[in-house]
Amino acid sequence: MAHIIDGAAIAAAIREEIRLEVARFKADHGVTPGLATVLIGDNPASATYVRNKRKACEEVGLASFGYELPATITQDAVIALVNELAARPEVHGILVQLPLPAHIDDQAVLAAIPLDKDVDGFHPSNIGRLGLKGRTPAFAPCTPKGCIELLDRSGIAIAGRRAVVLGRSAIVGLPVALMLLARDATVTVCHSKTTDLPAVTREADILIAAIGKAHFVTADMVKPGCTVIDVGINRISDPTRKSGSRLVGDVDFDAVSQVAGAITPVPGGVGPMTIAMLMQNTLLAAQRAVAHSFTL
Ligand code: GUN
Repeated sequence: MAHIIDGAAIAAAIREEIRLEVARFKADHGVTPGLATVLIGDNPASATYVRNKRKACEEVGLASFGYELPATITQDAVIALVNELAARPEVHGILVQLPLPAHIDDQAVLAAIPLDKDVDGFHPSNIGRLGLKGRTPAFAPCTPKGCIELLDRSGIAIAGRRAVVLGRSAIVGLPVALMLLARDATVTVCHSKTTDLPAVTREADILIAAIGKAHFVTADMVKPGCTVIDVGINRISDPTRKSGSRLVGDVDFDAVSQVAGAITPVPGGVGPMTIAMLMQNTLLAAQRAVAHSFTL
C-alpha cells in the first residue's frame, strides 16, 4: 500500500507559515497584501475555486477584491478591468480564473497582467522563462508549483529521475513538465496522440496525471514504487451520495495505491496546494512591491 501524500495537511502547514509572515509584513510595513480575483461567466467549478481562494485569503490575512463579470462581457472590457487593477497599489496580485468564455482570447487577457502582479504565473513571458535555462519566472504557476512542493515536502527526489506528465495544458501539463526539467528530471510529456501510453507511463519514477479524465490511470500503467501525483478533479455520478455525485481524480486511486510507492488523493491532494501557492505568490508580490528593488 502506497504512502498517501496528505496535501490537505501539507497545505495547512504552509498556510500557517504564510499567516505568520503576513502578520509580520503588515506590522513592518503597514500594508496588507491584496489579491484581485476576476470570475467571468457562470461555470460552477470556477465559482467554487474562486470562492475557496478568497476564503483562503481571509484565513491568512490577505485582502481580496472580487470581480464577477457576465459571460457576455467583451474582451476589451475584461482587459480594461485588468488595466485598472494593474494601476491600483493595494492590488498586489491579479488572478483571472480560467477557462474564459469562447469569444475571449485568454492569451490576450493574460498578457495584459503586469509581470509583477502575475501571481498565477500564466503570462506568456513567465511561462517562457520556466523553460529557459538560467531564467526564472517572476511567479511560477500555482498548481505546478504545488506539485513540486508536495514532492519536496514528502522527501521525494526529482533530479536524475524519470518523470512522465500526462497532459500538455498551459495551466498544468506544460509548466509542470518545464519545472521538473529545471529540477533535472528526465521528462516525457504524453498526450492524446501518444502511442502505447502504458509502456511510457510504466517508465515513470514520478507520474503526474493532468488530463481531466476520471480514473484514467490504471494499476497496469504504473511501475511498482512510483510516486503518483493526481491533478485531476472530475465530478462523477454517485447515487450513494446525497448530492448524487462526488469528485475523483485522473487516477484509479484504489487500484493504483496498491502498486505505487506514494500517491496523492482527490480531494485532499494537489487542490489545497494550488491555493496555498497562490497565497505564497501574493505575499511575494507584496514583499517585492514594498522593496521597490526587484527587477523583473
Ligand atoms: N483554472 C484551473 N486552474 C486554475 C488556476 O490555477 N488559476 C486560474 N486562474 N484558473 C484556473
